[in-house]
Amino acid sequence: MEIAEKVAHSSLITIALAKGRMQDEALRLLARGDVRVNAASLASRRLAIEDESGRYRFVFVKPADVPVYVEHGIADCGVVGRDVLLESDADVLQPLNLNINCCRLAVARRAGNESEAIGMLRVATKYPRVAARHFGARGVPVEIIELSGSVELAPVLGLADCIVDLVETGKTLAENGLVVCEVIAESSGRLIVNRASYQLKAAAVMHLIENLSRAVEGV
Ligand code: PRP
Repeated sequence: MEIAEKVAHSSLITIALAKGRMQDEALRLLARGDVRVNAASLASRRLAIEDESGRYRFVFVKPADVPVYVEHGIADCGVVGRDVLLESDADVLQPLNLNINCCRLAVARRAGNESEAIGMLRVATKYPRVAARHFGARGVPVEIIELSGSVELAPVLGLADCIVDLVETGKTLAENGLVVCEVIAESSGRLIVNRASYQLKAAAVMHLIENLSRAVEGV
């Protein structure tokens, strides 16, 4: 084994994974990149588990908390959507687009009511910063109504004129009578890295980035 490879194998890397919609695809991609978690560990309720090689430790956290764990160095790396990173102000490196969970951050309204709002636009969202930036840049006065889920209900029940939310298949919008009127950003899963870990665990981090790059490219 080359010295660089030995060093890469000697550092334990902690990876924060977003629980929920991204978790399965992230684990499948990591497995293709030679980072495998056994089924029994995954089936358990433990929130921190090691991979089969003992070189990686995973912590499963809410998506919005992934950049927090990585910025503070509790996790060396993280896997999280670009949507979450756009909303976060965490100072982390983003070396790799993992091309998983591809979706869009979009503005949506009730179908047939595309120009109903008069005066201040009420915008319901889980992404208050993204929404404020988007409408602020256009000079549109908005009242941001922050929700933590089921955002599509807000225009249906009259709480908001529109929403800023993630659209993947478009099924949730369609089933609630909403349509996209503007796409704000494309999103997909990203590998993020703590700035200090990128230097101090350079060999191990590069090893992971290279393995995942190959997995993304399907090599
Ligand atoms: C997300 C998002 C939309 C939905 C979009 O919600 O906020 O509601 O998925 O997916 P689709 O376009 O494939 O229908 P999530 O499932 O994360 O749950 P939440 O509403 O509780 O945030």
